[in-house]
Amino acid sequence: MERANFGSKIGAILAAAGSAVGLGNIWRFPYEAGNHGGAAFILIYLGCVCLLGLPIMIAEFTVGRRSKASTGKAYSILAPDTQWKWIGYLGVLAGALILGYYSVVAGWTLEYIVEALGNGFAGKGAEDFVASFQSFSQDPVRPLVWLVVFLLATHFIVVKGVKKGIERSAKILMPMLFILILILAVCSMTLPNAGKGLEFLLKPDFSKVDQDVFLGAMGQAFFSLSLGMGCLSTYASYFGSETKLGKTALSVGVIDTFVAILAGFIIFPAAFSVGIQPDAGPSLIFITLPNVFQQAFGAIPYLPMLFSVMFYVLLALAALTSTISMHEVVTAFLNEQFGLSRSKAAVIVTSFCMILGVASSLSLGIWSEYTLFGLGCFDFLDFLTAKIMLPLGGLLVAVFVAWYLKRSVSYDEVTNYGLQKAPYFPVYMFILKYIAPVAIAMIFINELGWI
Ligand code: PHE
Repeated sequence: MERANFGSKIGAILAAAGSAVGLGNIWRFPYEAGNHGGAAFILIYLGCVCLLGLPIMIAEFTVGRRSKASTGKAYSILAPDTQWKWIGYLGVLAGALILGYYSVVAGWTLEYIVEALGNGFAGKGAEDFVASFQSFSQDPVRPLVWLVVFLLATHFIVVKGVKKGIERSAKILMPMLFILILILAVCSMTLPNAGKGLEFLLKPDFSKVDQDVFLGAMGQAFFSLSLGMGCLSTYASYFGSETKLGKTALSVGVIDTFVAILAGFIIFPAAFSVGIQPDAGPSLIFITLPNVFQQAFGAIPYLPMLFSVMFYVLLALAALTSTISMHEVVTAFLNEQFGLSRSKAAVIVTSFCMILGVASSLSLGIWSEYTLFGLGCFDFLDFLTAKIMLPLGGLLVAVFVAWYLKRSVSYDEVTNYGLQKAPYFPVYMFILKYIAPVAIAMIFINELGWI
């Protein structure tokens, strides 16, 4: 197979950022922060991004660019006849499981686009938004229709390989999303009573910090940066030889974190302003945001509609660039490993994720009594992937690169064969070798009681 390269360094950064920036930043980050007490969680999250996220991202880039293969194959190439290939397989499985429930939420954004287009938010208050979200998300049919539509869109793009178009449009859409959330953050902060929300975001309450917070923050960092499942390593296999791994990782990390924090600055002032609890869970953005649109722009006819349509369209597109990256990993795996054609492989992935998606969606409504370890399908998949599989994948990548691969391989990749300086290299290797594995293992052991 001929391997295409990203046309430019900025193309590489944008593609990786496209995978990273998604529902994880705007939907999952605020509700995880809300569930875990706000500012203290955010500080620990930032620590996880710097100490675990960035080094592990560089490690994934190293694996991808060195092997020039998708994650399912990369380890067999770099470490033939060893068991390291299981890192790749674990990632592929995690990708398929995440796609299953992620598409449900992505589907919700489509419902909200249609709702906004019909000016359906007009004249409603906070209770109405809570009630309509509940009745929609628990509906046995409507969310499923949107889930299928979203998965088919992802499927079509992955099969047709119109990734180029996506990358090109990402160059316009990502900055647009960025500007829009900046405007919304300003609007939200000027709502009445917004100060309480800002305090929640900025004033850490360390009495709320328990082991759960650490696992939550670590899981969120891996999820949001698309780490631990080989997504970024697969993308890195398309990096050109001039792409600087450290700089790309830093750019993706900064963009991703910035979007997440800004989302916090939209959601919490708005939530406190209209009296919605910050720990409302996965519904949080769907009940607070329509309020922001109404209250901030309500004075001018059609302005709330315009802003809400724009917002949900951009959110859906941000989700789409993430679902494509997950789908691609699994499709490439079936294609390369079992020799299935790309289109057959994609049909299998899409069908599998539809089944998971239906079960996840129904678990929020009529199937809520069916649980595993006390969690419905949606919550179980979220817990299993974000809090277990991704950090575990990250730990294994760190150990693989730091302990198995020759140090000179890492050095060559990070410095582009000595052409670029990388003064951070010894620190990076030290973190990868000792700090990241020990920190992840300790968080696991503490939280899950594995000893
Ligand atoms: N990082 C994506 C987001 O924040 C989700 C994702 C996770 C994408 C894992 C790919 C792999 O929405």
